[in-house]
Amino acid sequence: MKNKILVTGGAGYIGTHTCIALHEAGYEIVVYDNLSNSSREAINRVSTLIGQPIEFIEGDIRDAESLKQVFLSHHFFGVIHFAGLKAVGESVAKPLMYYNNNVSGTITLLEIMAKFNVKNLVFSSSATVYGDPESLPIDENSPRSCTNPYGQSKLTVEHILEDLAVSDDSWNLIPLRYFNPVGAHPSGQIGEDPNDIPNNLMPYISQVAVGKLAKLNIFGNDYQTIDGTGVRDFIHVTDLAQGHVAALNYLERQVAPVGFLPINLGTGKGTSVLELVTAFSKVSGQPIPYQFADRRAGDIASCYASADKAKNLLEWQAKLSITEMCQDSWRWQSMNPNGYTVT
Ligand SMILES: NC(=O)c1ccc[n+]([C@@H]2O[C@H](COP(=O)([O-])OP(=O)(O)OC[C@H]3O[C@@H](n4cnc5c(N)ncnc54)[C@H](O)[C@@H]3O)[C@@H](O)[C@H]2O)c1
Repeated sequence: MKNKILVTGGAGYIGTHTCIALHEAGYEIVVYDNLSNSSREAINRVSTLIGQPIEFIEGDIRDAESLKQVFLSHHFFGVIHFAGLKAVGESVAKPLMYYNNNVSGTITLLEIMAKFNVKNLVFSSSATVYGDPESLPIDENSPRSCTNPYGQSKLTVEHILEDLAVSDDSWNLIPLRYFNPVGAHPSGQIGEDPNDIPNNLMPYISQVAVGKLAKLNIFGNDYQTIDGTGVRDFIHVTDLAQGHVAALNYLERQVAPVGFLPINLGTGKGTSVLELVTAFSKVSGQPIPYQFADRRAGDIASCYASADKAKNLLEWQAKLSITEMCQDSWRWQSMNPNGYTVT
């Protein structure tokens, strides 16, 4: 048996897929999640997929006492820290909630890690920290800036991690900057389960395809891109999950601390919104009615990663295509039209 990992937010979309990948790679996992944006059913399904119960603790990362009890009863090699709120629009309406959860929660977690001398952290950062990029593809040295509280909360945590690494060189802190995670587990058993109207494109497209939503709004068709719609670097969530395993494997290989080491997780390829809609329609056999709407404030024309650092350091690269992303999203959506809610 390999090292034991604490997975905060492990009941969520990316967390559940990563738990499976970690288990398959031989890691022992403990999931810590307050279920504010997930469900026990997700944990049950992960347990079924891996063929054994998952150790799950319902708790909040802002609750130092609860975290302390978890660290007292386990010896962790490191923490993968997914727990956080992620809706940009909601963060504009409720900035204090976002800073409290994402920033204060992370500080509490880091304090407990320091107390128990657990110095390996893989943190869910985002390509949003690059703001409107000056050049493409975006590499890890690109300037960072954010225009909304969600993005600011990610950037602030990155700054905290940088300061921490300067203050004490025994830390290994890897913020993984995700591009646009989509897709679902090939079993169709786990996937993205938005609470309300989806904020992200792929669940929105899938809900139009399955007939839950009438029409897709595509924001902007006059960008300087291949077809005028925005271009993003979509990455299959199971590839993303493997990126976390690769980051832990990398930390296990190190003989000296790595400090603060940000790494992009993307495919390096841009796909336009219209290209994604066309691919999804082809895979699902369903029409995806759409209309063009005005550009949204803060949206950028194109965003895709330089994936070289992940390839060189972590020996990881994304493998799955847009077609596979659409196939797996569609399988999840059509097998679970109401997500994890059993009606
Ligand atoms: N999905 C994306 O497009 C995307 C892109 C870039 C970065 N990220 C980041 O990756 C992480 C995971 O994203 P996801 O898509 O799986 O989101 P998600 O909402 O599905 O998962 C987050 C999990 O964290 C839990 N959580 C939230 N606040 C908590 C708290 N205070 N204490 C304990 N648990 C808490 C939620 O219940 C949920 O299960 C988030 O930090 C998100 O900001 C996501």
